[in-house]
Amino acid sequence: MSDQFTFRLLATDGDARRGEISMPRGTIRTPAFMPVGTGGTVKAMYMDQVRELGADIILGNTYHLMLRPGAERMARLGGLHEFARWPWPILTDSGGFQVMSLAQLRKLTEKGVTFKSHIDGVAYEMTPERSIEIQGLLDSDIQMQLDECVALPAEPAEIERAMELSLRWAERCKTAFGDQPGKAMFGIVQGGDIAALRVRSAEALKAMDLKGYAVGGLAVGEPQSVMLEMLEATCPVLPAEKPRYLMGVGTPDDIVKSVMRGIDMFDCVMPTRAGRHGLAYTRHGKINLKNARHAEDPRPLDEESACPAARDYSRAYLHHLVKSGENLAGMLLTWNNLSYYQDLMQGIRDAIEAGRMADFATETAEQWARGD
Ligand code: GUN
Repeated sequence: MSDQFTFRLLATDGDARRGEISMPRGTIRTPAFMPVGTGGTVKAMYMDQVRELGADIILGNTYHLMLRPGAERMARLGGLHEFARWPWPILTDSGGFQVMSLAQLRKLTEKGVTFKSHIDGVAYEMTPERSIEIQGLLDSDIQMQLDECVALPAEPAEIERAMELSLRWAERCKTAFGDQPGKAMFGIVQGGDIAALRVRSAEALKAMDLKGYAVGGLAVGEPQSVMLEMLEATCPVLPAEKPRYLMGVGTPDDIVKSVMRGIDMFDCVMPTRAGRHGLAYTRHGKINLKNARHAEDPRPLDEESACPAARDYSRAYLHHLVKSGENLAGMLLTWNNLSYYQDLMQGIRDAIEAGRMADFATETAEQWARGD
């Protein structure tokens, strides 16, 4: 641990990086997967379980927490770590992305975005300064700039306008964040599916000398090949000595391929959301427990896993729970899925240290393809 926010590169293998982010609340081993804890809970999981699976950091959402329970109330209650009983690092998204996908009556100007809550219709204004203020009230360790992410496909002029606006908002967020040695504020590269715009965005953010950089606006409707091309354009421009976070990504395959292009951090609702919808991620690929073929299958999801949800329950039982709509179905499958994701990250970190990331990628892809 460290009283300052620091990033250290421990090993590289091709463009893949094995590193360590240190800050007062803990150390994050990278490449890292951050379970999504949108509203102060990683859905269907106890925080102790999340930690035990190997998560060094979780993600929270400014948008959800400002609406309920409210940022000032959260501060009075001692901040998000105390409230949710997660004393280790927390990264918060800035709210812009969620406003655009969830809120009603949105209006975006140079100043910020106004919207009505999807919960009760109450009107709010979110500016870059207010986003950073809220993330401070939550006591977030890694805060994100307010940005505008456009869904793809989009017109080049629209992509460019949103990218330039996001750069101006990055400057305002940097000023609002000020000097907080134990915490960080990350800028977010935008630019849609246009490599030249990605490069311009990354260069401008690099010149701001931020403590870390996210790549946003990907996995928003474009094919995986386009996402990877954008990473290939962006990562070489970003400074090697700062962490890089690919927002909202992704499948195990997306993660492996993005690590190989230089990404250090990920978050995605996939393992938690899929778990609540009857889907299990395993070393042998994705398994849909709703399927009748599992009704009399006595095998566990993965007999070699250290996670009880993967190792100790039959597929027949999991199928029964899913078909019956039992809460335990979502609990066990989320536990299994986060266990799989954290094991994958550990496998990636070990492979980079051993200089065998390319072999690891081939072997894991073969295993997924072979099925159960
Ligand atoms: N989550 C997934 N993509 C994005 C993005 O482009 N911006 C923000 N703020 N959050 C995201």
